[in-house]
Amino acid sequence: MNTDNLFKPFTLKSLNIKNRIVMAPMTRSFSPSGVPTADVAAYYQKRAEGEVGLILSEGTVINRLSASNDANVPHFYGDAALAGWQQVINGVHAVGGAMGPQIWHMGIMDNHHSGWLPEVPFEGPSAFNRPGHENGKAMNEADITDAIIAYGKAAADAQRLGFDCVELHGAHGYLIDQFFWDGTNNRNDIYGGKTLAERSRFAIEVIKEVRRQVGKDFAIIIRLSQWKPSDYNYKMAANPEEMEAWLKPMADAGVDIFHCSQRRFWEPEFEGSDLNFAGWAKKITGKATITVGSVGLNGDFMAAFAGESSAPSSLDELMRRMDRGDFDLVGVGRPLLADPFWTQKIREGRSAELKGFTKEALGTLVID
Ligand SMILES: Cc1cc2nc3c(=O)[nH]c(=O)nc-3n(C[C@H](O)[C@H](O)[C@H](O)COP(=O)(O)O)c2cc1C
Repeated sequence: MNTDNLFKPFTLKSLNIKNRIVMAPMTRSFSPSGVPTADVAAYYQKRAEGEVGLILSEGTVINRLSASNDANVPHFYGDAALAGWQQVINGVHAVGGAMGPQIWHMGIMDNHHSGWLPEVPFEGPSAFNRPGHENGKAMNEADITDAIIAYGKAAADAQRLGFDCVELHGAHGYLIDQFFWDGTNNRNDIYGGKTLAERSRFAIEVIKEVRRQVGKDFAIIIRLSQWKPSDYNYKMAANPEEMEAWLKPMADAGVDIFHCSQRRFWEPEFEGSDLNFAGWAKKITGKATITVGSVGLNGDFMAAFAGESSAPSSLDELMRRMDRGDFDLVGVGRPLLADPFWTQKIREGRSAELKGFTKEALGTLVID
């Protein structure tokens, strides 16, 4: 199999990366009181040493008291956490890598199994995180304005610390996605509405504020998913026209790269074409896209959370789509948890040495 196109450099504004492999954002919960430790820095540095082109950090939360449901998820605000992130990016750059933080607000959450709770109730567009499941409060206009400012501040801090880009987490049922979805947004004001385009107003204001803070030359990625944690087959945009009405305004607001989250990258987005989500997003917006979802593995990540292992699998179908120009970059998650050198092994064709994924990889930060 020819993987040459995976190993071509990629440049877009502030991003200059040596290949097309992107480490997918993966929450690790190893940052006590929200502060990334030296082990967290070593973990990311090792993936950069292993030749990952662009590392996206685990979700790291903005400065809102209820942005997180987990005391060990890193903050992207406050002197101690930002000093931790400074060590992370310095370590990644020292070995020739590139990295952006995934900027996150979880929105209305279920309570974490640890029992930890934020000081104030969870907040979201409406009080629930799936139809019929209330666990917080609806944000008022002042909350929304403050959250938008907090996203912008986090992006400005990322740029100041020397990160190469930022990613906004707009996927997987968290705050931005809760605004998108009519199942979690029943507001009657300008942040609600009957159409997906109307409910995108919060995302667009966040993107504009982030763009205002970082200037025109800093790369902004947004991660989106059609699926919801409560419904893996859900499609917010039911056809290409609805997808265009959703994505184009975000591109116009300042998004450079759409990171299109699927569980399995080979699944077509709409009937009548084999294009996946990243393929459609690129075709519709003309922007660069990242595909992701079971690259190089034979089982998806929801199965991983249920404790299932996944064995290595061929990259033929990935390369068929990449060589055709469907997407620019390729997100890889679970293979990099236990194997920092996955990228190097792929480049050198050492497929017999690939490790796949087992649930033990979730329990520790593998640094060697
Ligand atoms: C342990 C774990 C944590 C994750 N945390 C995040 C996260 O913080 N933000 C996010 O957007 N996706 C998160 N994801 C989803 C991954 O980024 C990725 O989309 C998913 O694992 C599919 O890629 P894979 O099949 O290569 O693992 C997580 C996945 C795993 C396995």
